[in-house]
Amino acid sequence: MIRNATMADVPVIHGLITEYAELGRMLFRSHADLYEHLRDFLVFEDAGEVVGCCAVELVWRDLAEIKSLAVAGPRRGTGIGRALVQAAQAEARRLQIARLFALTREPVFFERAGFHVVPKETLPHKVWTDCVRCPVQANCDETAMVVDLTGAAPAGKSGG
Ligand SMILES: CC(C)(COP(=O)(O)OP(=O)(O)OC[C@H]1O[C@@H](n2cnc3c(N)ncnc32)[C@H](O)[C@@H]1OP(=O)(O)O)[C@@H](O)C(=O)NCCC(=O)NCCS
Repeated sequence: MIRNATMADVPVIHGLITEYAELGRMLFRSHADLYEHLRDFLVFEDAGEVVGCCAVELVWRDLAEIKSLAVAGPRRGTGIGRALVQAAQAEARRLQIARLFALTREPVFFERAGFHVVPKETLPHKVWTDCVRCPVQANCDETAMVVDLTGAAPAGKSGG
């Protein structure tokens, strides 16, 4: 089940993100940051346990970012990441956002979810505010990927 996050989920969300941030695969997020942005978060819950999360952060009138996407190690490769990305797309569509983007080191996964690679320069400067928190900064190794949400949602999919 995918649902909006609540305050009770913050410790688990923090744990999921921290596990991958310590491996250099995503940016750390503090408890304070998570509380402040809790309304951006979706969680995947299975048998009462939160095993995945992602956030949809609004950037501009026509643009949102999917970020902090993490699936618990033992549950990876079972479709949870894809389901979260579909739900994020559905949420962005609900808000009438035209484009959802990701900055990622997992381009194949996002390609399978309907995103395509774009030159980083096509994203507005505002997007790069997180870079100050990133250990690699100017040596950015992330790929910018976008999905256009202005067409009809794919048939038969709950989220996209
Ligand atoms: C990347 C991540 C979110 C993917 O979630 P997941 O639940 O493991 O992925 P899914 O099972 O939904 O996979 C969906 C599809 O993508 C493919 N895929 C998943 N991870 C992939 C990877 N690293 N490389 C290539 N393909 C991948 C799957 O094989 C599957 O393919 P299919 O369409 O043939 O079935 C998850 O592995 C994760 O939490 N990684 C660590 C944190 C991270 O890197 N987050 C992304 C930050 S932008």
